[in-house]
Amino acid sequence: MWWWLLAVLGCVLVACFSTFFLTTGKRYKLFSEKGLRPPGPLVTDKKQRDARLKKGFREDQVPPALDAVVIGSGIGGLAAAALLSKAGKRVLVLEQHDQAGGCTHTFQNKGFEFDVGIHYLGQLHENSMLKVALDQITEGQLQFTKLEQHYDTVLLGQPDQRREYHIHAGKTEMAACLKKQFPEEEEAIDEFMRLMKLSSRRTPLIAVLKIIPYWLVNFLIRTGLLDRISCVFRLARTNHSEMISRLTKNKDLQALTAYLFYGAPPKDSSFLINALLLHHYKRGAYYPVGGASEFAFHIIPVIQQAGGEVLVRAPVKSVLVNNQGRACGVTVLKGQNEIEIHAPVVISNAGIFNTFQKFLPQHIQDKPEIQSLLGMVRHGMGSFLVFVGLDGTKEELDIVSTNFWMYKDNDLDSLMERYSSLSREQVLGNIPMMFITFPSAKDPTASIRHPGKSCMTLLTMARYEWFEEWEGKKLGKRGQDYLDLKNSMAQELLDWALTVFPLLRDKVVMVDAATPLTNVHYLGAPRGEMYGAEHNLARFNPETVAKTRPQTPINGLYLTGQDVFCNGMAGALHGGLLCASAVLNQILYIDLLALKTRLKHKQNNSKKTL
Ligand SMILES: Cc1cc2nc3c(=O)[nH]c(=O)nc-3n(C[C@H](O)[C@H](O)[C@H](O)COP(=O)(O)OP(=O)(O)OC[C@H]3O[C@@H](n4cnc5c(N)ncnc54)[C@H](O)[C@@H]3O)c2cc1C
Ligand SMILES: *[C@@H]1O[C@H](CO)[C@@H](O)[C@H](O)[C@H]1NC(C)=O
Repeated sequence: MWWWLLAVLGCVLVACFSTFFLTTGKRYKLFSEKGLRPPGPLVTDKKQRDARLKKGFREDQVPPALDAVVIGSGIGGLAAAALLSKAGKRVLVLEQHDQAGGCTHTFQNKGFEFDVGIHYLGQLHENSMLKVALDQITEGQLQFTKLEQHYDTVLLGQPDQRREYHIHAGKTEMAACLKKQFPEEEEAIDEFMRLMKLSSRRTPLIAVLKIIPYWLVNFLIRTGLLDRISCVFRLARTNHSEMISRLTKNKDLQALTAYLFYGAPPKDSSFLINALLLHHYKRGAYYPVGGASEFAFHIIPVIQQAGGEVLVRAPVKSVLVNNQGRACGVTVLKGQNEIEIHAPVVISNAGIFNTFQKFLPQHIQDKPEIQSLLGMVRHGMGSFLVFVGLDGTKEELDIVSTNFWMYKDNDLDSLMERYSSLSREQVLGNIPMMFITFPSAKDPTASIRHPGKSCMTLLTMARYEWFEEWEGKKLGKRGQDYLDLKNSMAQELLDWALTVFPLLRDKVVMVDAATPLTNVHYLGAPRGEMYGAEHNLARFNPETVAKTRPQTPINGLYLTGQDVFCNGMAGALHGGLLCASAVLNQILYIDLLALKTRLKHKQNNSKKTL
């Protein structure tokens, strides 16, 4: 009986799409194969890199007659800016830190180079949507290298009874490798793989909720039609623990379906998001050649070519709103002065909380639409990072690109619940999970850029509350108690890591750590969040999905980045694609899909002729 409803719905959808996006205004041609150049040589000269990545804000550097201003130079901000630039718009990107890139920036300490928020990436195989999009906004200059096929090792249990599991990339290898390790669980693994694939294939429908009008979303929800269209909406609303316990009773296998931690325990997280995170690496795990700073390094020229600019040390204080209630620019703090910059479009890459709670005047913040939006999201959990410098080459130290994920218990729900309910005094001695990665082992150019040196990064989650006492204090002036807590946590993680890599003990020559307060300072994360707004179950119910879109209750003000879609380089880039689509009033995914199809044909044809 319901097929006719679907037919009606289809017509409504098509009608909406065409009236809203295809008939109005002009169509921009952003994407083409011609914009790509063969990758140039890696630029290692510091002066040359800084001239692009660290161009300081000065009023006379602001281009005239801006079409848009972007707050924040994370991948979400840069992608939105580059896409608009490709449509001929003049865009200014303002970054509060002293270099561009947000989570993709890198820093040097005692001759070691560390990246902050890019450990490994997926879905970058030839002609994948993500690769095609990245090529377009970098003119094909950004290159990636593959990690080992065995890209992740997961260690579960207390040190004396640790079980080791391997995760392999590959269309069929991923499942096959799991089955080898869980021979009794073939059926559960097949079913999980099926749901994972389904989640990935149908996720565009989730994005559609951010594109079609609200009334239509409401109509679909209230009539129950949404779930008839696809089961992806149900997968998004189902908590991971509930779903996975239906598939298998094996606790270790359950843990392996949700080991990529991001703050929310499996029972409070969406099955969809966990499935997507695992699926992300199914076709291979990748790392940017030359390190994470290559993202900004190659996107910035695309923005500059259209007359735009990316300026750092430019903390935005507020968004200007005119008498008609339209966003019309921003103010930037320069010393004691607030400098006004005007543009008809303002895009914020600084996240939902900064945008609505810090940048807007109180009377606008108080608007019910904004309050209701803020009521839908929570601050995500903070991260704690340890940066370890090692003396020796990859070969000498016998390290590889495979990452390690460690949990002291296979019940991730109770483990994470216990951890996040600890008070500051209880944290030491009780850190239950950790991620270990060797950035230098992933990048073939690391040995050229930093000969004889290797590096290791350790990561765990941390609550902002543990460090909140020092939030008003400046970097480097937080006092001995802060340093003691930070250094003790770092030592605990390092000691734990050295139980897995005992040979590295004598090779450690540098250790530094980053707390949630570090994220506040360098990433502008209001409560030290690792991934912006929390990725809890509530975030993926259809109403919240529809409301967290690039358009905001303020005309002319848009959001981009990880708070628009989801976390990760890929998530933030999709935020940028959705944002630029909203600003240009043109669904860029259609154009991207057309290009991807053309490229695939070309590839197939050239294969045939070979
Ligand atoms: C430790 C860590 C590890 C990660 N590992 C991976 C990984 O392996 N793979 C992966 O895909 N993703 C990973 N991520 C996630 C990924 O890096 C992020 O989800 C993504 O890069 C976020 O991009 P964004 O553009 O939304 O935000 P951001 O990169 O956070 O950019 C926001 C920018 O806005 C700026 N800003 C804020 N306030 C202001 C202001 N007032 N004025 C001017 N500028 C301002 C900030 O300084 C920042 O540069 C990791 C993240 C972290 C923290
Ligand atoms: C997960 O979903 C199940 C079934 O809907 C429910 O019983 C359970 O309470 C949920 N768990 C949490 C923590 O919400």
